[in-house]
Amino acid sequence: MINNYQIKTFEQYQEAYKRSVEDPEGFWADIADTFTWRKKWDKTLEWNFEEPDVKWFKGGKLNITENCLDRHLKTRGNKLALIWEPNDPKERFVRFTYKEMYERVCQFANVLKKNGVKKGDRVCIYMPMIPELAFAVLACARIGAIHSVIFAGFSAVAMADRINDAGAKMVLTSDGLNRGSKQIPVKRVVDEALETCPSVEKVIVVERLGWAVNMVEGRDVWYHDEVQGVSKECPAEEMDAEDMLFILYTSGSTGKPKGVVHTCGGYMIYAQYTFSNVFQYEESDIYWCTADIGWITGHTYLLYGPLLSGATTLMFEGVPTYPDMGRFWQVCDKFGVSIFYTAPTAIRSLMSGDIDHVLSYSLDSLKVLGSVGEPINEEAWHWYHTHVGKERCPLVDTWWQTETGGIMISSLANVTPTKPAHAAFPLPGIQPILVNSDGTEITENEVEGHLCMKFPWPGIIRTTYGDHERCRLSYFSTYKGLYFTGDGAKRDENGYYRIIGRVDDVINVSGHRFGTAEIEEAINHNEHVVESAVVGYPHDLKGQGIYAFVICKEKPEREDYLRAEIIETVVEKIGKIAKPDKIQIVSGLPKTRSGKIMRRILRKVAEGDTSNLGDTSTLLDPDVVDEIKEGAL
Ligand code: WT7
Repeated sequence: MINNYQIKTFEQYQEAYKRSVEDPEGFWADIADTFTWRKKWDKTLEWNFEEPDVKWFKGGKLNITENCLDRHLKTRGNKLALIWEPNDPKERFVRFTYKEMYERVCQFANVLKKNGVKKGDRVCIYMPMIPELAFAVLACARIGAIHSVIFAGFSAVAMADRINDAGAKMVLTSDGLNRGSKQIPVKRVVDEALETCPSVEKVIVVERLGWAVNMVEGRDVWYHDEVQGVSKECPAEEMDAEDMLFILYTSGSTGKPKGVVHTCGGYMIYAQYTFSNVFQYEESDIYWCTADIGWITGHTYLLYGPLLSGATTLMFEGVPTYPDMGRFWQVCDKFGVSIFYTAPTAIRSLMSGDIDHVLSYSLDSLKVLGSVGEPINEEAWHWYHTHVGKERCPLVDTWWQTETGGIMISSLANVTPTKPAHAAFPLPGIQPILVNSDGTEITENEVEGHLCMKFPWPGIIRTTYGDHERCRLSYFSTYKGLYFTGDGAKRDENGYYRIIGRVDDVINVSGHRFGTAEIEEAINHNEHVVESAVVGYPHDLKGQGIYAFVICKEKPEREDYLRAEIIETVVEKIGKIAKPDKIQIVSGLPKTRSGKIMRRILRKVAEGDTSNLGDTSTLLDPDVVDEIKEGAL
């Protein structure tokens, strides 16, 4: 029974929560017992947050794909596992039963093996949202290769950085991709990246557009050639609970992205438990998570969580606005979607369109709505709840991070109370605390502080790939004995949490994380630039926009040309998703005498609030502030 530990009432939530704090090991061991293990674990939990060193289910042996696929074959072999809806509504959708999905994954796994991939090898996946992406990820897991999915919107430079950091041996990609009315030459980006990636021996290309692409002799092969005559059975590699399952790169407050590492056992249990409970998943549901598999939401809640639960998961290749602003709702009606999980930025962009795009669909099948990626503002919350959920669907605002593996703070649909724009309560097993900047715990309610966790959960980050010290410094050193999320949060008089946003130098653009240092580094590559400082500012659609203050070598003749060039540089170094929204050319930056940029001042200017800039007397050159204020965009 997969949904054995599904909480059905608020009282059960309170009981489960209480037990999870009093006896966390017993709590998680009971849940873990409902999974398929080759060998049971010896010890449920070993941990310290100093190193950090966290081990869940030590000595346990398993393969996550046996839990995602094999164990469903008897009872759900003919049930739909995956529905794939293409970008173009005129193209036919494709469906795979659990049996078919099992066979596709096994075949893909055999193709990987045939091309030299072994347990422990890193495989980079740079692919559009096509079924082969799902098969590829699971195929890696099946043979114990570590997948590192890179969102296909990242540039060649960004991809190369990630491939080199992971030392990936293989890249899985496609000829091109569809995105709304555009087609993008994916393989060309891979070719460019691989000019600087000596570890990559093979590239497997899946055909999507039917384009003629450059194939490097001895390195590149077509998937459709390789899969000819390959067996539909592939034995699953036996993995230790703490063996790496995947690496997923995310931005932090320094320039270099971090490879967040998740392991097989704990991640599996956490993905399934949270999926089942937060969305109150039932066997007959049609579940749709709109995130790309290139982000953690796609890993945990498009792929692993639903498949571990035996659910039918929908994968969409396109964008919410193509061919028109009603596409999401058309797809919901087409397949009878009952659980729908998306990001506030998508809701805000659809809100700006004609309401008829929503009203012309019935949306009768919807039961539960979810939100993820950034704080959902009240206006978006109400629009989503009223027009999409028709005021009858609970809306769960799910707070979590790449590093947490799964949802941490959220209501459980119809089970625990919700409050607009609040993530609400911690899930069982999660022990959040708020601390002051000196690290003291704030115990009362109606407070605000830095959000930390004081006890490990099975989905917690284990390390940052190749650099454990970085993991310690980023998450476990700010506050002794605590995992620090980087977020600020409020707790209201009834204990509801409301996540306010990052308190570090990370900005959240349309639910995607960027370090300001990472964007600055990219901008500084432009030959005309001397120095830059990037801050986030409130943006109606994206949540936060990117505002760059840039010092140039000499005053440009045409500022607009220079801005376009700087944007080009960022697109080249990171990708279109990190394009600055505003670029202000300045002659200096507000710095302290020790040379530190006072971002607080820049943030105020970017927000358009220059009335009270606070104390600027400690600045090296206070005059620069007036110039910046006057030139604000
Ligand atoms: C950061 C994590 C979690 C998957 C998608 C993003 C922000 C995420 C919420 C929410 C307020 C949220 C936080 C967090 N965030 N969900 N429901 N309410 N803020 O994953 O790229 O790792 O980013 O996104 O600031 O730290 P990510």
